[in-house]
Amino acid sequence: MQPTRKATSRRYLVCPPEHFDVVYSINPWMDPCDTVDRELALKQWHHLVSVFEGLGHRVDQVAPVPGLPDMVFAANAAMVVDGKVFGARFLNPERQPEAAHYRAWFEESGFRVRSSTSICEGEGDFVWVAGTLLAGTGFRTASAAHSTASSYFGKPTVSLTLVDPRFYHLDTALFALDDKNIAYYPDAFSSASQKLLTEMFPSAVIATEEDAAAFGLNSVSDGGSVVIAQGATGLIRTLEIQGYQPVPVDMSELHKAGGGAKCCTLEIRG
Ligand code: ARG
Repeated sequence: MQPTRKATSRRYLVCPPEHFDVVYSINPWMDPCDTVDRELALKQWHHLVSVFEGLGHRVDQVAPVPGLPDMVFAANAAMVVDGKVFGARFLNPERQPEAAHYRAWFEESGFRVRSSTSICEGEGDFVWVAGTLLAGTGFRTASAAHSTASSYFGKPTVSLTLVDPRFYHLDTALFALDDKNIAYYPDAFSSASQKLLTEMFPSAVIATEEDAAAFGLNSVSDGGSVVIAQGATGLIRTLEIQGYQPVPVDMSELHKAGGGAKCCTLEIRG
């Protein structure tokens, strides 16, 4: 199948999993009795970064901090649109100190940062598509943060309610394929949210439970190439048919903490 979609170059912020571990459980994927192979996690993560660079994207890195094993999940640190940074306020005390480290990186890099006063887990619960912020709530980000983000960015926001604890962040259940369309797993959302999504995105790619559980919706698309969990085989095939270029990656060690390729990636827009 010839890819027919057009990619645009992106800038991503990432954090190496040098201190990655599963020592607490804040989502159903995390079992502190699991053994984590940090060397393998680093290898998988370095491969992810080399994929982004190979696709021509700019990748910046935040220094990892000892004692913050989830800091590798950069997506949760902020939402960035038009060069404006809406900084996170984490729900779980274990992750709360991450916010200041990411904020410092943004400030040192010349960005203006506004930190959320209500619970907000950044791009984990915000997706920018079709000139709109899709905003997740139900497990982590509070709906109050949706309205604050909407006025801060000056963008319309559509709130979506997540209902399946396996898909506790919006970016585990939905991703933007390009600036117009999305892929998602309907049953991760309340029926009212499913209705909204059907109306907004009549041609969305619908993922199966199997592909969602394989972290297939935790994907990073540049409009042409889609960096996707290798286990999401059905979705990979569908994307190919639709003219995208899937780039399968193995992020199995990170899955043990409930995260995949997208969770490790924070897009810096504008
Ligand atoms: N263990 C992390 C947590 O539960 C995983 C975060 C995954 N990040 C994401 N953007 N979905 O917070």
